Amino acid sequence: MRPSGLFRLLAFIFVLITSLVFIRSYISLSTKTIRLPRWLADPPSKKTRVVKVKCDLSKPCPDNFFAFKILSGAANVVGPSICFEDHMIMSPVKDNVGRGLNIALVNGTTGKVLSQASFDMYSGDPALLVKFLKAVPEDVLVLVASYDDPGTKMNDELRTLFSNLGSSYAKQLGFRDSWVFLGARDISNKSPFEQYLKNTPDTNKYEGWPELLELEGCVPRKVF
Ligand SMILES: *[C@@H]1O[C@H](CO)[C@@H](O)[C@H](O)[C@H]1NC(C)=O
Repeated sequence: MRPSGLFRLLAFIFVLITSLVFIRSYISLSTKTIRLPRWLADPPSKKTRVVKVKCDLSKPCPDNFFAFKILSGAANVVGPSICFEDHMIMSPVKDNVGRGLNIALVNGTTGKVLSQASFDMYSGDPALLVKFLKAVPEDVLVLVASYDDPGTKMNDELRTLFSNLGSSYAKQLGFRDSWVFLGARDISNKSPFEQYLKNTPDTNKYEGWPELLELEGCVPRKVF
């Protein structure tokens, strides 16, 4: 081979290699820039799907606990709601709430809803609520949400009955206070599930009513 022929061969190999390198980097560059949008490239899988938490709690309850969420009414405008294990027992949408005290009874072992009722504490007959509370069986959870006015018709007998269910605030519940509570007849001391806001015209969120209260938590299932 003549020296010029060797030079031409080397030049050809050099051009071939550099163009291959160039083409390779060009291809990898273009695949990088022409990425599919996430929603097209990455269809939702089981892993990314949002897991629904019972009663929309901020975090799920452990095994052998019941999830619950109780909201008191907002002023006299929006009714209260009581959710238990993802079952909305009482709510404005269900149209089964009323002014006064809204109460749901749930079997503490099975989580089954036993009954629900609302008692007008502004102009109703408090004897109806006395009768209802006296008939609460053992091992039954009592969920309570106030709406508008839970206090006007409160009497000593009712305060004692609620206190015996583990309430700390039933003693002072008055006109247009906000109150949410979960208790049971066989509770050994005060229930940890309770919130109370006094109707205080100076600090009320709404003119004539304090702010609505939200109580959520996990209550242990009664196991025998
Ligand atoms: C609650 O459920 C348990 C188990 O089924 C049952 O034995 C008990 O009688 C129920 N209690 C009420 C008050 O319904």
